[in-house]
Amino acid sequence: MSRKLRVGILFGGRSGEHEVSILSAGSVYEALDRNRFEPVAIAITRDGSWYLIENPRDVFEKGEIDPHRGIPVTILCQPLKDNFVTLDGKVLEPLDVVFPVLHGTYGEDGTVQGLLELAGIPYVGAGVLASAAGMDKVVMKKLFRQAGLPVVKDIAVMRWEFQENPERVADYVEANISYPCFVKPANLGSSVGVSKAKNRKELIAALEEASMYDRKLVVEQGIEAREIECSVMGNEHPRSSVPGEIIPSGEFYDYESKYLSGESKLLIPAPLSSEQEDRIRNLAVKAFKAVDCSGLARVDFFVTKDTGQIYVNEINTMPGFTKISMFPKLWEASGVSYGELLSHLIDLAFERYKDKKRNATVYMGRKK
Ligand SMILES: Nc1ncnc2c1ncn2[C@@H]1O[C@H](COP(=O)(O)OP(=O)(O)O)[C@@H](O)[C@H]1O
Ligand SMILES: [Mg+2]
Repeated sequence: MSRKLRVGILFGGRSGEHEVSILSAGSVYEALDRNRFEPVAIAITRDGSWYLIENPRDVFEKGEIDPHRGIPVTILCQPLKDNFVTLDGKVLEPLDVVFPVLHGTYGEDGTVQGLLELAGIPYVGAGVLASAAGMDKVVMKKLFRQAGLPVVKDIAVMRWEFQENPERVADYVEANISYPCFVKPANLGSSVGVSKAKNRKELIAALEEASMYDRKLVVEQGIEAREIECSVMGNEHPRSSVPGEIIPSGEFYDYESKYLSGESKLLIPAPLSSEQEDRIRNLAVKAFKAVDCSGLARVDFFVTKDTGQIYVNEINTMPGFTKISMFPKLWEASGVSYGELLSHLIDLAFERYKDKKRNATVYMGRKK
């Protein structure tokens, strides 16, 4: 039998979604097909140190990374055969592919993807550009609009602009957007720093809060809408899953109702007319292509409660990946089991890597 492929599972990370990543990685570690793959768990602490974890089940059970129980490691950002090493220089068995099960900053935003590109290691999911574009709500929405996708009206505000003159920023927002509106940091996830503002006082407080997390902020027209999500998978020819619906436990789908209350519900499949379902599946693939995504993504939608108008809210290039998360659940409902999903995503990582390798990196001269 051929050698098993060593799959580096990167998890934790310097992000507000550190805990969620540990949960996602625990599910991935358990379900990886041991006939084909050998998982190698690499934990990233909150301050960004990397550790090889030899007994990862302990970490996954506890939901916490204990640096004293790991071996400090790094990936060298050069395409060398021996690019996986301990910090004191011992060469480790190389990784064949990396699965960055990282959500949010320093993981889902193109930074880790850039490191893996330099190291020449195939990796699961979106490349540098799609990861970064999918993470930045301002850039993402520009690309969506450019691709003709329906998005809710928004205004980008820089933190310095707001801090220099909060009243002027509030005037500008009020001249363009009506209450209620949503204020968000541009580069974050899990609803961290997101608030709903119903008047000027709340708007200023919301901008102050979002300013704690990012230098770029977004104010968006609030709408009364159902929240529908659709999974996408593939490289050149992505396909979409059946859509699902989130019924948030709170006033909106905030951090509390995502992770803490345990009372938000998932409806799979989402109760939609077949026309609505087709349109959402179609838009999900278009959104995927609009940011030049590859591997996987979850595309989130708003469907207004009164008229059924559909808007693309966002794309998540490394969506929640626990066994009970929406992304794998939607695939399960579409006939792809969790284990099959992982194998397929790894195959897609190799496919993209090989395709990129075809590119010449030296001038080839002009064809006569
Ligand atoms: N324009 C909007 N109108 C109504 N609800 C919104 C709007 N924007 C965000 N929300 C609510 O806030 C939640 C989080 O916003 P989202 O943009 O998805 O940020 P995150 O990337 O943190 O998930 C959404 O799931 C939704 O419940
Ligand atoms: Mg969201």
